Order: sequence, then C-alpha cells, then structure tokens
Amino acid sequence: MNIALKGTLPNKPRVLPGCELQGYETLFDESSYWIDAEKIVGEIPPALRGTLFLNCPGRNKIGGQQYGHWFDGDGMVSAVTIKDGRVHYKNRYVRTPKYVNETAAQEILYRGVGTQIPGGPLKNMFRAPSNAANTSVILHGNKLLALWEGGKPWELDPSTLETIGEYNYEGGLSSMQPFSAHPRIDPHNHDLYNFGVFGIPKPKLHFYKVDSEGQMVSNTSQSVGDYAMCHDFAITEKYAVFILCPAFMRTPFKFLLGLCSIFESIQFDRSETTKVIVLELATGKIVMEYQLDAFFGFHLGNAYQNGEELFVDALCVDTMEIMGGLSDVFIERSDDFQFLTNGSRFNRFTLNLATGDVKKTLVEGAVAGEFPAWNPRCTGRENRYTWLATIIENGTPYNFNAFQKIDHKTGELKIHDFGEGRFTSEPNFTPMGENAAEDEGYLVSIVYNHAREKSEVVIVDAKDMQHELAVIPLEHHVPFGFHGYFYTETFV
Ligand SMILES: [Fe+2]
Repeated sequence: MNIALKGTLPNKPRVLPGCELQGYETLFDESSYWIDAEKIVGEIPPALRGTLFLNCPGRNKIGGQQYGHWFDGDGMVSAVTIKDGRVHYKNRYVRTPKYVNETAAQEILYRGVGTQIPGGPLKNMFRAPSNAANTSVILHGNKLLALWEGGKPWELDPSTLETIGEYNYEGGLSSMQPFSAHPRIDPHNHDLYNFGVFGIPKPKLHFYKVDSEGQMVSNTSQSVGDYAMCHDFAITEKYAVFILCPAFMRTPFKFLLGLCSIFESIQFDRSETTKVIVLELATGKIVMEYQLDAFFGFHLGNAYQNGEELFVDALCVDTMEIMGGLSDVFIERSDDFQFLTNGSRFNRFTLNLATGDVKKTLVEGAVAGEFPAWNPRCTGRENRYTWLATIIENGTPYNFNAFQKIDHKTGELKIHDFGEGRFTSEPNFTPMGENAAEDEGYLVSIVYNHAREKSEVVIVDAKDMQHELAVIPLEHHVPFGFHGYFYTETFV
C-alpha cells in the first residue's frame, strides 16, 4: 500500500546549465561581520533569536589539486546569529591535522574517503582516511562539536569557532571508536544517543549514550556482520533503529595496499538484503532484526512507537549510484543525470516487535529529497510533519532548489520553490515558541543565489511554505554543505 500525497509541482525547462557550480567552489576566507540592516529584505520574526551552526566541506582543493570526492572537503563551520533583529555571520575552518598541514604544504598530504594522495600506491598504503570534520556540528552538554562519521568529534569555541581540539568524552570513546555525524537527542531529558561503525576484520556497531551534562554514560559494541556503512539512525522513546544497506568492503586489500580509496573498495550487493535492526536504548542490545530486498539510503527521518509497532521514516534509493555522482559535483552534469528519478524517496517503515513483520511503504507523490527535518520536540514521538530539501523542475536543476513539507495526517504536500538560480540545503526547523503548534516555526537555511554569485540566509514560514519572511544577503558565497542545527543561545 502506498501513501499518496496531494499537491502540484512546477515543471519548467532547464534554463541555467551549470549555474550551481559556483555553490560548490571553495571559500578560503574566514570572516566575522554584522549584516547591514538596510540590506535585509523582509522582516526577521521578532520571536526568532539564536544561532544556526552549520558545517560544510568548504575547501575542496589545495595548491591547485582537487580532492577526489565532495565528502573530503575540509570542514568549515558557519555561525549565523540572529539577535534583536540583527544578523551576524562568522565562519572558520576546523584545524584538523589535515587542514593545518595541507595549508602549510599547499598540496594533498592525506588520504580521504574518495581521495588518494598523488604519487601512487606507496603514498597511500596502510593509511586510513583522515578526519575532515565536515559533516555536522552540534551544541550539547556545553560543547560545540564538529562531526565526521569515521572519526572523533572536534571541539570548537562557540563564540569564536576556534578549534579547541579532538574530543573523546574524557576517554569515553576508545582510540578506534568513531562518533557519527547524526546523533539524536531525546527532547524530554536531553540525553544524546549516537553510534559509530568500525572494526577489524569485521565491522562492529558501537552505540553511545551521553547525558544532558555531556558525560558519556554508556558505550556498547556488537557485531553486525559484513555491513560496513551506516550514516544515520533514529530513536523512539525506548529503541534505536538502524538501516544497514548491503554495502560491503569487497576489496579490503586493494584499499590497504593503497591501490584504491575506501569508497572504491565498498560495493553495493543487490543479491544481499538490507537489514533493519532495533536496539533497546536501556541496554544497547539488539532485540529485533528484519530483512528487506536490497536498497540504499543515507538519512532516516523521525521514528515512534505505537503499541507493538515502530514507525520509522527513511529516504531510500534502489542503488548506491548516487555515491559516484557526488564525487564529481565540481563539473557540469550531463542532461541525462536525472535526480528526480535517481534520488531518494520518502518511505515509512512499520516494524512489528511481536511478530517480526516489516512493511516498507512509499509515500507516493513526495518528491525525491534529502535532509529530513521535523519539530525537535517530536523526536522519538509521533510527528505529523516532515520537511525535506528537494529538487523540482524549476529550470535550475542539480542541487536542492526547493523545500517540501509532508503532512502525514492529511497527505498534503507543500512546496517552497526558491526560484531560478537559487539553491538551498538542509531545512533547519526552529519552532515559533514552546506552545506553538507543531508546524508553527521557521526554516532557516543558507541559499546560494546564482545571480549575485553570493549566498543569503533565508527564513521561510514553515507552516504555509509560501513566504520568505526575510532574506539576509551575505558578502560571499557559502559552499554547499550538509548538516547543522538552530539553537536559541547566542554567542556574539
Ligand atoms: Fe547526513
């Protein structure tokens, strides 16, 4: 059975080929400035106050050498502060060894997930991919942490964004344990849950609980077979849910001997199943496992429990081909690259804890998209609304050019079209207030505007999805990125 949404989409021919490319360009400069109030179009909602922290792979080349994959760019954290109707922007690179040493040498010195050090296998053999600290940034337990799924968090000063250093929760993480870029926070007690996948010779799933004060209180590990990749997960009030796609490290020796990157050694095997596992939050133990026909996906949405059933949202795609497409985002795409048909589709899974039955239901009518967002007070509880970044046929394809809002109760689909030559990223939902309705709030994001060749902070009305309440122009572009969150605290 499919869930059908009601709504219409724009459908325009492509008019601006390659206009997204500048949005991927490196931004070398670091800056800190207030935006002139008279340049702001619209009005910043009086109730909106806080800081949007965002992470992106801001530097994608060094000394004229391009990194081999978008995911290998050095982490650049932005802080957009909205305070008393004024807006401040600041950005700074995370001073990882990769960033510091490559800056000094002006050449590629470190292996990435899709980048090889120039010079052949001997330069790469027995080297692990380096931590680019480029995927997300969270503020939890009085720590601002830049995250990358294959390594440790990097602690930053929230006021200056200066790098304090690699962080391991005071020894809570062992030397080989990674900390993913997708922690989930229980809105009722502010406990944080996260995971990491790593192990030799077989991968293990490491599962962590950090209390609201920032103390790691639980760290458990268990085997998950050969499943080598997991980017995201979801929580309910009692359980954690992981979707393990059949992406296996099929040529580990080629990787170890420096003959290929780790991404090139991981292969998607359609003959295997995608596995859904359920862990109990209290014990970290696997309590159920489900098998489905093979599919791939990066991101999950929210999850919740009703009786014996868990409902879990996830973005799913038939193959892993999208990974190849993400390595060459710096060149103009051919017209046959069809994101609308290749992109991830919104699905809702029903997992029965008593019978072991599993159902995967396509939300029909939802546009292919990524970066699901919901009201954070609903994390682990039933949510009526999900927002996504998506691509519609508005003449400016090949990156996110719209937001969509899904109403799970009525099936209504709403689209916010950013218009010709404007590209967005993750919809960072922030509620209008503690007592506001679930969808009363704002989607705050950084939009690249091709006509200005600069970016702007855009505040969209999350309820009606029509109005850009304020457009705040920046003095430069902000490279396309991944994840961040809006917090009500300010640090300027
Ligand atoms: Fe992600």
